[in-house]
This record gives sequence, structure tokens and C-alpha cells, in this order.
Amino acid sequence: IRKNQLITYPNNSYEKLKSEARECQRCHLREQCTQVVMGEGSLENRIMLIGEGPGADEDEKGRPFVGRAGQLLNDIMKDVGLKREDLYISNIVKCRPPDNRAPKNDEMEACSPILKAEIEIVEPKVIMPLGSTALNYLVEDGLSITSKRGEWIERGELFFLPTFHPAYIFRNRGAEEDVRRDFKVLKKASERIEEL
Ligand code: URA
Repeated sequence: IRKNQLITYPNNSYEKLKSEARECQRCHLREQCTQVVMGEGSLENRIMLIGEGPGADEDEKGRPFVGRAGQLLNDIMKDVGLKREDLYISNIVKCRPPDNRAPKNDEMEACSPILKAEIEIVEPKVIMPLGSTALNYLVEDGLSITSKRGEWIERGELFFLPTFHPAYIFRNRGAEEDVRRDFKVLKKASERIEEL
């Protein structure tokens, strides 16, 4: 994430960010989707989950991770004792890519000022990238989610703990245990977040 693109949102101007995001026309994805889907959750607890982009259900409801993958994510979080509202959940792009394809580089770049502003506001100590698109965009291009999931990756003041995207579990049931394990680690980290 390039610092020179950071927008500064002092004074808790999260509401301002949300209303600016709703008006965003920085890329053509907005022309084809129903609405901009902003992140949501705790601005205090300094933990972020970041997915790829809204799907059909998110596009319809205007909230991240509310479809089938989101339900599974909720179940896994509940199992390990994490409350969804205690984390901040967002996506790399805020508008649904057509046919749920992965967002393209120019779309992710166009959307990045919103994500950067969310990161400035939440000031996460831990970011959990969900799936390879988020891992590669947020941490480093070319990293394999299969080999990096469950591993702490330190970048300056920030710790990344990547895991599989919950939608991947539908195609690879064996991945559910891995994701559950990674969320247990996240839960432990959440209990000592101020020490990180
Ligand atoms: N998949 C994502 O990456 N994000 C969502 O919000 C929903 C599904």
C-alpha cells in the first residue's frame, strides 16, 4: 500500500468516508453494480478481515459477507468465540465485479483510497486477508495462500494472518479445518492485541 495515496481522515470522519465512497466513480465497476458495499464493524478493536469484493448477496444488501460464504464465516467465528461485530470486515473492492470474477489490478488500485482510509481509521494491528486476491494485494504479489495461510507475516507495525477465502471451503471441504485453526489463532491474538 503506497503511503502517498493515503487519504487522511482525522476526527472520526468515518461517516464522511462512507458518504464519499457511495459517490465513488473512480472505476467502471460502479456502472454495473447495485451499490457500493463499505466495510463494517468495530473501529476500536484493531483487527480487520479483508476479502475480495462483494458478491450478488452483498451487492443486493449493501453489506460485506452476508451471502453463503459470509454465513460460513460467521459460523466459524462463532465457533472460536469471536463476535463478528468485534472485528472490522471489508473487501479490496467495494463494488461487485461482474459475474463474481476477481477484481482486476486497475479496479483494486482505483478502489484503494477507500481501503486505505478504512485502514487509517481502524488502525489495525492484525489484518486477516481472506484468500489469495487479498493476500497478494495487501502483502506481496505471488505469495501462495496454500503455503502462507496460518502464518504470521510481519510488515512494519502490522501483522498479517492470511487464511483461505470462506468460499474456497465449498470446493475444498478439507479447508474448513484450516480456516477454523487460523481463526483460533486470531482469537488468541485478539485477547492480547495491545501487546502486539
Ligand atoms: N466474498 C468476498 O470476498 N467478499 C464478500 O463480501 C462476499 C463474498
